Amino acid sequence: MQRPKHTILIVLQAALLFVVFNPSEWIVHAQAPIPAKFDGFVYQNRPATPDSIVIEAFFDPVCPDSRDSWPPLKRALEHYAPRLSLIVHPFALPYHDNAFVTSRALHIVNELNSSDTYPLLELFFQHQERFYNQQTRNMSRASIVNQIVKFVTKAFGNSYYSAVEAGFNDRQTDLTTRVSFKYGCSRGVLGTPFFFVNGFPLPDAGSAIDYKGWRSIIDPLISEKSLKREDLKPMHFFL
Ligand SMILES: *[C@@H]1O[C@H](CO)[C@@H](O)[C@H](O)[C@H]1NC(C)=O
Ligand SMILES: *[C@@H]1O[C@H](CO)[C@@H](O)[C@H](O)[C@H]1NC(C)=O
Repeated sequence: MQRPKHTILIVLQAALLFVVFNPSEWIVHAQAPIPAKFDGFVYQNRPATPDSIVIEAFFDPVCPDSRDSWPPLKRALEHYAPRLSLIVHPFALPYHDNAFVTSRALHIVNELNSSDTYPLLELFFQHQERFYNQQTRNMSRASIVNQIVKFVTKAFGNSYYSAVEAGFNDRQTDLTTRVSFKYGCSRGVLGTPFFFVNGFPLPDAGSAIDYKGWRSIIDPLISEKSLKREDLKPMHFFL
């Protein structure tokens, strides 16, 4: 997503002045508490194996570029199944008013039934404009939460209503959503979508990668891996 350039400049200048005039602060010590489990949502409950190519995607549920990047990535996952493993981390951008609350809804639903997490993410993408800043500017926080509870209930059934409502009153789900954000920060995520492949960041953060793009990233890794496996085989042709 675009950010106003002058704001970034001002922030950078302020940071620079701070560093220049505070030599003792040249080293920033940032340490977030370690969560009990690895952050994020594993696609199709298909965790990585030693043979997997692991993609981590940082998505903001109300970011149009995250939305646009999902169908080509999903297609790539189908193409390379089961070699590709995906973990989505929600990453709530501060300039999207409802990014945190929708990310929290993902954590709440994931806790209730992890099979519903990705369908909910897709629903948020599909109906994203309902949660844009402009569309919700006159709504109170409480009525937005209420709207999201109804949104989830409509999709997954009335039995969810009280559980999702309770989820929004449970401080733990707030903390879990913060962990996602902090994890993104610790990895240097500064926009969405943001992808890592086997732990390494892809360039062009903040813009969608199309299907051809994914093929050109993954194909060489697949052939490199199968080459290695050939190397390990005993060389019968010498016998
Ligand atoms: C979780 O959701 C899936 C898909 O909606 C459903 O088939 C399954 O029965 C649910 N599991 C539980 C424990 O409710
Ligand atoms: C928000 O409220 C203002 C003032 O009452 C009104 O002019 C505007 O149309 C409202 N916006 C939306 C999106 O409902």
